[in-house]
Amino acid sequence: MRNAETAVTKKRALTGIKPTGAPHIANYIGAIRPALALTDQYDSYYFIADYHALTVIKNPQEFTDLTYQVAAAWLAMGLDPAQSTIYRQSDLPETFELSWILSCVTPKGMLNRAHAYKAAVDQAAEEGTADVDANVNMGLYCYPVLMAADIILFSAHVVPVGRDQSQHVEYARDIAQKFNHTYGPTLQVPELLLSPTAATIIGSDGRKMSKSYGNQIPLFADTATLRKLIRRYKTDSTGADEPKDADNSGLFQIYREIAPVEDADDVKKALEAGHMSWGQLKDIVFKAVDGFLTEPRERYRALMADRRQVDRILAAGAEKARLEAQHLLARVRDAIGRVEMRP
Ligand code: TRP
Repeated sequence: MRNAETAVTKKRALTGIKPTGAPHIANYIGAIRPALALTDQYDSYYFIADYHALTVIKNPQEFTDLTYQVAAAWLAMGLDPAQSTIYRQSDLPETFELSWILSCVTPKGMLNRAHAYKAAVDQAAEEGTADVDANVNMGLYCYPVLMAADIILFSAHVVPVGRDQSQHVEYARDIAQKFNHTYGPTLQVPELLLSPTAATIIGSDGRKMSKSYGNQIPLFADTATLRKLIRRYKTDSTGADEPKDADNSGLFQIYREIAPVEDADDVKKALEAGHMSWGQLKDIVFKAVDGFLTEPRERYRALMADRRQVDRILAAGAEKARLEAQHLLARVRDAIGRVEMRP
């Protein structure tokens, strides 16, 4: 009974995870951990946005594997299906019906201005391509509407995301308002919740850590690979006993996020005083990361070795989520004037 009561008073947080790559440590620090931190305060929904990934992933085996990897990663890093709801987007056909209905109140000009679409068009223009839309599929173009449907289907109050997703959440707000204006107050207007650790983590080559640069520290690499990747981190030529810029070191950034505060302070002081070499820092960071990831790595392996377990968790989540989704969709159908026909 207590659970039911708190569920009513808690606001709802919802976030989607696109399975386009194996999660790395910057994903954990910037997105996974802050989202999981909301479970006490919010009624939380996490879903695998598999059909969003379809705009870029065209290999069926890769599509399957990434869906499992990303689901297992969130579970391994601490998502508790008993405390929050986890499901796969494509298990909810309601999403796609709502997406169509919302697209009919979405101005085309809004999608023309969407960052991802504009970037694709700008790149084509730069390359001198005659048809700037030649490499754009409709999935990429309509991506923001599908995302609005994900959010609106669950009447989410807040959407915890990184800065790169803020335009999408703004669009979801605009679309919900547009619908309400057209058909009367029906939809919850969501709010953006920017993750507090939106700081950019520097990857092994000195650029922002991103799988598109291949400079990432994967969450579930084995110990030997992890050691190698950390050893390979690019550092400047500051000598062992010279003062170093801790805050601009990707390795120190990672250490600061996972080590006890006092340890991070000590290491920072040692680096800045010229009492620690980059090599020593690498050893310390490797030990800390390896220790931190030992248990998650075991959980991840167990889940990936028994995908049926992941299936069961996602199916149970979808079953629960669908009831909710059907309820909202019924209200929407009603609002637009679609009556249930009875023979
Ligand atoms: N676009 C998000 C990303 O690339 C994933 C996503 C899809 C999402 N639907 C969502 C995030 C709904 C929050 C809410 O990371």
